[in-house]
Amino acid sequence: MTIDVTAPGQRPSAQPEPAPPRIIMCAPDHFEVSYTINPWMRPDEWEARRSELSGAAAAGWSALRRRLQQLGAAVELVAPRSGLPDLVFTANAAVVLDGKALVARFRHPERRPEEPHFRRFFDGLAARGLLDEVHDMPPGVCLEGAGDCVHDAGRGVFFLGHGFRSDREAAAVVADLFGEEVEPLELVDPRFYHMDTALCPLSGGEVLYVPGAFSAEGRGRLRERIGADRLIEVPEADAVRLAANAVNLGRDVVLAEASDDLKAALAERGYSVHEVPIRSFGLSGGSAFCLTLRLDRRSNRRSGRPV
Ligand code: ARG
Repeated sequence: MTIDVTAPGQRPSAQPEPAPPRIIMCAPDHFEVSYTINPWMRPDEWEARRSELSGAAAAGWSALRRRLQQLGAAVELVAPRSGLPDLVFTANAAVVLDGKALVARFRHPERRPEEPHFRRFFDGLAARGLLDEVHDMPPGVCLEGAGDCVHDAGRGVFFLGHGFRSDREAAAVVADLFGEEVEPLELVDPRFYHMDTALCPLSGGEVLYVPGAFSAEGRGRLRERIGADRLIEVPEADAVRLAANAVNLGRDVVLAEASDDLKAALAERGYSVHEVPIRSFGLSGGSAFCLTLRLDRRSNRRSGRPV
């Protein structure tokens, strides 16, 4: 039974519903490993196991999408395109914050043709009112989207991994456009060529990280900014399964697979781990976070609360 306690003419003072997380994904219809731009990519192995791996990729991607939707996310889809096998890694499409998108500039010619495709996609989102502004990188500066430029809403900072795909000079571009502090961190291990394979800020202020992926200076900066007690080291066995490449929504952490140690470390801090069968993307050097891009992130200055 519902009792209406609202006086006549008075509106109930309900809190506005928080907007659902909005996530961009791209179906793996044309996903394959046909070139090598990171140490995980082995086209010969892909060729030998093509039908098994592409079937597993399709099923795993659908499971990831379903799980994110079950956790409350709305998913927007980029149209897949033949000849662009890495388009599925939408984390690389742009850096997005406060309704602004900064479209990626890729390092390798293999991925450059993705730029105009993503640009058109973001223009379409702006036309639908889902974005306010769409920007391109200045000439000569590479930045591979949220793959290398990860926002930490609680601390009001972008961490920017540079050295393999993105340029350190991108830090000033990001700081100017978004008005947010940027902490550049040098990446030194080619297996963790995108920073999102080695660092994942969590909603409670903890940060999952792979220490060996960063230079000694970068590790020092991370310890200083985050505090040793809130840095959660990803064990080597998990790091090489790309477990740090996780999607965090509130207290849920979605990833390909985690050891009992990593699960325990997360559970201890109040997080639930959801494993999804996306290992075949590992043969391209990608995992859960790479396959997603958050469209609704707000800085604390804009929202008054962490996202
Ligand atoms: N094969 C892709 C590349 O090397 C994988 C990208 C993974 N994306 C990521 N954000 N880590 O560019």
